[in-house]
Amino acid sequence: MLRTLIYTTFILFQIFFVRLTLATCGYESCHPTKADKLNVHLVPHTHDDVGWLKTVDQYFYGANNSIQHAGVQYILDSVIPQLRDDPNKRFIYVEMAFFYRWWRQQSDEMKKTVKTLVEEGRLEFINGGWCMNDEASTHYNAIIDQMTLGLKFLNDTFGECGRPRVAWHIDPFGHSKEQAALFAQMSYDGFFFGRLDYDDKQKRLKDKRMEEVWQASISLGLEAQLFYGALYNGYGPPGGFCFDAFCDDAPFEDDPNLFDMNVDEKVKKFLKFVKDQASHFKTNHIILTMGSDFQYENANEWYKNMDKLIKYVNAQEETSGVHVLYSTPSCYTYALNKAGVKWTTKQDDFFPYANAPHSFWTGYFTSRPAIKGYVRQTNNFLQVCKQLDVLSGLQTKNAASESMTLKQAMGVAQHHDAVSGTEKQHVANDYAKRLAIGIQNCQNLVSDSLSSIMSKDQKTMPPTSEFCHYLNISICSSTESQKSFTVTVYNPLARSTNSFVRVPVDLLRYTVTDPDGKTVPTQILDVTKETKRVRGNRGSATHELFFPVSAPALGYSTYLVTADSKLVFQPVHDPSSRSSEPSQYTPRQQSNADTIIKNEYMSLSFDGTTGLLKSITDLESRKILPVSQSFFWYNSSSGNNKDNQPSGAYIFRPNQTDAFPLFKDSVQMHIVQGDLVQEIQQQYTPWVSQVIRLFKGQRHAEFEWTVGPIPFKDGLGKEIICRFDTKLATNKTFYTDANGRQILTRVRNHRDTWQYNDTEPVAGNYYPVNSRIFIKDSNLQLTVLNDRSQGGSSMMNGSLELMVHRRMFWDDHYGVGEALNEPGQFGDGLIARGKMYVLVAPPEKSASLHRDLGEKVYMAPWVSFTPMVSDWSKKFNTKYSALKHELPANVHLLTLEHLENNMHLLRLEHQYEKGEDANMSKPVTVSLQGLFAPFEITMAEEVNLGANQFQKDVKRLHWDIVNGSDRKMGSNYEALNDSLDVELQPFQIRTFRIHVKRG
Ligand SMILES: *[C@@H]1O[C@H](CO)[C@@H](O)[C@H](O)[C@H]1NC(C)=O
Ligand SMILES: [Zn+2]
Repeated sequence: MLRTLIYTTFILFQIFFVRLTLATCGYESCHPTKADKLNVHLVPHTHDDVGWLKTVDQYFYGANNSIQHAGVQYILDSVIPQLRDDPNKRFIYVEMAFFYRWWRQQSDEMKKTVKTLVEEGRLEFINGGWCMNDEASTHYNAIIDQMTLGLKFLNDTFGECGRPRVAWHIDPFGHSKEQAALFAQMSYDGFFFGRLDYDDKQKRLKDKRMEEVWQASISLGLEAQLFYGALYNGYGPPGGFCFDAFCDDAPFEDDPNLFDMNVDEKVKKFLKFVKDQASHFKTNHIILTMGSDFQYENANEWYKNMDKLIKYVNAQEETSGVHVLYSTPSCYTYALNKAGVKWTTKQDDFFPYANAPHSFWTGYFTSRPAIKGYVRQTNNFLQVCKQLDVLSGLQTKNAASESMTLKQAMGVAQHHDAVSGTEKQHVANDYAKRLAIGIQNCQNLVSDSLSSIMSKDQKTMPPTSEFCHYLNISICSSTESQKSFTVTVYNPLARSTNSFVRVPVDLLRYTVTDPDGKTVPTQILDVTKETKRVRGNRGSATHELFFPVSAPALGYSTYLVTADSKLVFQPVHDPSSRSSEPSQYTPRQQSNADTIIKNEYMSLSFDGTTGLLKSITDLESRKILPVSQSFFWYNSSSGNNKDNQPSGAYIFRPNQTDAFPLFKDSVQMHIVQGDLVQEIQQQYTPWVSQVIRLFKGQRHAEFEWTVGPIPFKDGLGKEIICRFDTKLATNKTFYTDANGRQILTRVRNHRDTWQYNDTEPVAGNYYPVNSRIFIKDSNLQLTVLNDRSQGGSSMMNGSLELMVHRRMFWDDHYGVGEALNEPGQFGDGLIARGKMYVLVAPPEKSASLHRDLGEKVYMAPWVSFTPMVSDWSKKFNTKYSALKHELPANVHLLTLEHLENNMHLLRLEHQYEKGEDANMSKPVTVSLQGLFAPFEITMAEEVNLGANQFQKDVKRLHWDIVNGSDRKMGSNYEALNDSLDVELQPFQIRTFRIHVKRG
């Protein structure tokens, strides 16, 4: 009996011990290194683009191989057995869009094997978002969502061992400060990337500053501090050591019975390489990226040769002092962390990226403007969809998959060859198609949710909601030729909002009533010639009905629209009906008098001779900004020059320094005067036009541009900009945002950390403008917000420009193999239409204006329609708010998303930087208790920004920095009190898993 007990204990102990020794992931699973040697960390990896030359599914399957041989499924198929058969080996995997596709096809047995590998740290997930996102043209809301999607899949599938420790952006074309700040808040310990400016890199190599600590936010301090490493050799292996089937380097030939023994030669070459590399780094550890694009389809080739590399190099380690090991980016990071070095710091960003004096990767900031606009708009709708899913409480199985399609499509669209515009045309079409399908599915969810909230008894349901995707070109079958319909305006913000609805109609008099049954003022506008041109044969509405709407916080308002019965049968083409039109449509008088449009906040004057904007007056401060605004173009270099570098999908390389104007002497101009909106319609050329609008009660002016098809018959590539010229004393300085959030100071022909060499006067001064750009002096600030990511700059003092569209005819030699020559709807070239939102105010007032407006632009009200039902207001709720009170003006409801059962994800964001505004930048407290109308929060668990770790468990590595404080990072967790008061510091985002009870 005793014997058995002892024996059993022994067995149990053994099992326990075995589990203890093997089941360690994270830093404990790293291979040991040697303190007295140079440790060379071999990191076997594959870089799998989530679409580029082929679509994401073609890459997964290995289809369409005539374009590029690449098949991700085979990579995973081939790597796993290598890892399974040898505990020494390591591999990292990055893109969840692919891993997820592979995982769902595996047998239970294979899944078990993979789990073991993950639990033992042999297969390690790195980065772990749905894709490796672009950093220039992505919005922070979409970055956080796509990371959350991938990290949730990892946690759901592998638990804690699936949590990536390190961020890995080896390919994106420049690196943003906001991205680093976000990664830090997602509890990553390190961040590695491959691309930085060639001069910057030279200096960093010389100064041993390829690795240091990025202080990525003034407001967040240590919370946004992140160790980063710029990789020595991009993300490829050392020359001569690429052992993939794609490579031609000689394998290790080590059999003395055979010819061509090359071990000594190879070892010598390797030692030289690693010693060169090590001379530029601070510690006795270096990292080698052993892999590249879509490599490891036949993993055996790589591993067999790396095994030999390790064997033969380590055989000489006592003499060479070099020790090689299989490793991962986290193991490397951990080794650096323990190396006892004080690290230097960085505060600026890594934009723009140039790899050669005439190769600035600043064209992609604007490439494919329509996709960029579509992605931004879809982010808006995805938030609406996720919110309504939570608010309606429907959450059927269907709902989960209905929003999942769009989450995944958006995840794929953030990839560094997707929203960036650097993919082939057929792949761009594929991204758009995925978004469109995702939107369709989410529309079902939104429609069901709205119906359920609108219905008073859950029996009488309103008609299915309809959505119009072409309102910007006046196409909408739900309103055109309808005598009556409803318009529901859903507001995804946590504050009520006022805006305007503009829908195409065919009649001239409508009665519109608000949710309380009160008649609202309306204005009828003509559909412009320009809109008809863009729309082509896709629609035929002749007029637009325009009226003000307001919607409560996180809720909706329904407006009822009915055509005036007397006029129903009066054809709109009858010119006599025009006389009843309220809007005055006047061609510009041929006189030199200025034209002025004006509302409560601002007045815009237009030059009587040129038809261009002449000044903007801020009526509050009574300050006048003389400003002209117009469109210009740069002639793209064709590459027919000594550097053979044309403008293309990635590269911006204009032939000249001064942009050419796009009009001669004057632009055609029309004025539309009305009570609700006043418009100046300008025609610059047959393919460039603009409408400038002032709305009643709105603080900004709207500039809607329409550009395209860009003419091509002259064979000249063209990059079209919109430019504002003022006399502001800007002293070479302008300001651009990072991913829609932080503001960075830019100085023309200057870099913060190295001597800038002005080889490309224009392209080298271009920066990503994700949401806003501004210039200012002590008196006034001109802020321009955009509706999609664009490139922008200030090429002269007092001037500000945004590139809105580009078309050229040469590949720029960075792999895409196509010219950026988008065909558009009718095959003759893409027409793009977009908006800029312009604010003029004293600098100290500008931050609160552009933060407020920025939020309204990217989280705009979403409009849906239904046919009219009699007694609508009696049958249905015409107004709804899911909040019992609005959130304070500086707090943004960033995420409200269903997780599972009675659990949702909630993110609250303080949307002001420290010191940005005297009032708004103060810390603020929001109580979650009693906040939401449809449910009560019973528990709120704080998680990190990626929602894959509880905040109480966050323990990031602490890095010693020169002149740094010794405070530990991320250890200041405090549980919420009983009333669930959430305090937000400037720019802080706090994420919660909330458990709810519905009443
Ligand atoms: C991660 O997954 C585990 C296991 O399924 C779960 O218990 C945990 O709540 C998840 N963590 C987070 C932060 O969602
Ligand atoms: Zn890539």
